[in-house]
Amino acid sequence: MLLDVRDLHVEFRTRDGVAHAVNGVNFAVDAGETLAVLGESGSGKSVTAQAVMGILDVPPGRITAGRILFRGQDLLKLREQERRRVRGAGIAMIFQDALSALNPVLSVGDQLGEMFVVHRGMSRKDARARAVDLMDRVRIPAAAQRVRDYPHQFSGGMRQRIMIAMALSLEPALIIADEPTTALDVTVQAQVMELLAELQREYRMGLILITHDLGVVADVADRIAVMYAGKIVESAPVRDLYKAPAHPYTRGLLDSVPRLDRKGQELYAIKGLPPNLMRVPPGCSFHPRCPMAQDVCRTDEPPLYPVSDGRGSACHFWRECLHGPDH
Ligand SMILES: Nc1ncnc2c1ncn2[C@@H]1O[C@H](COP(=O)(O)OP(=O)(O)OP(=O)(O)O)[C@@H](O)[C@H]1O
Ligand SMILES: [Mg+2]
Repeated sequence: MLLDVRDLHVEFRTRDGVAHAVNGVNFAVDAGETLAVLGESGSGKSVTAQAVMGILDVPPGRITAGRILFRGQDLLKLREQERRRVRGAGIAMIFQDALSALNPVLSVGDQLGEMFVVHRGMSRKDARARAVDLMDRVRIPAAAQRVRDYPHQFSGGMRQRIMIAMALSLEPALIIADEPTTALDVTVQAQVMELLAELQREYRMGLILITHDLGVVADVADRIAVMYAGKIVESAPVRDLYKAPAHPYTRGLLDSVPRLDRKGQELYAIKGLPPNLMRVPPGCSFHPRCPMAQDVCRTDEPPLYPVSDGRGSACHFWRECLHGPDH
């Protein structure tokens, strides 16, 4: 297994109290596999990614428990210097906002080349040639000319391609993409996603794709982990999950996506808001919003019940949900 995250807990200590942002998350990603992480704003997706990447805001953030095994080695036990080596060459990250992730005063060629100079000890000239190659790989037109341009001289979609090139430069085994296309318009989103999926297959990388967008997920992911209030509430192969969700929250997410075959019908919205992470409700944290909630849901926290091979749901009533009627 490439990455194996076990029982990860992250909290933030703030003046108002302790926010339990990640509460016992387990997931694994294999080489060549794409795991989509889905969930509403504030569910702990980025914090999980930051913990894996070793870029958590500490303090106020703190990993209070868990293990992050990368190729069998617990990253939480590494010293910062060793950790830095894993970042870039082992695990790379793509962020939502390329403009703030790239350095505005360095040409893109220098930024890409820097990776090869620093990590591979290449000469400036060779590094520049590799930068042009990479820009070609992510299909930036006229790469040889544009290598001297600065980030602001590129469109949003092209900048995102450059960030993908940066992430790919050291041929990492795992890429974490945190909402890599949300800042782009829809057609560009699709192109950038396709490119990322294609490169992932070609390099046989593991990919963790964090997104709100269920449409994107269906096309590119192998498995989905649905997060709610810092927990994974459903984990399943993509096809199974789309066929029939085993958690009412997943069902709510699926039903709130516009579908051609339900044209004219009113779009469903999950009622209410996600909980304040300083005061997560007892029992199942989704119960105040759940159309299926019973008494037991208010008192007993559901474990991740095994639903089928490679599939789990943290709902006491996963059977009813799986076989339940459409609402
Ligand atoms: N720097 C921080 N200081 C304090 N609390 C934080 C910090 N970063 C995250 N949190 C807490 O962790 C929670 C989860 O944040 P996270 O960024 O992981 O959400 P997310 O699922 O990525 O949401 P989004 O879809 O909006 O990106 C936040 O709601 C907040 O309570
Ligand atoms: Mg986020």
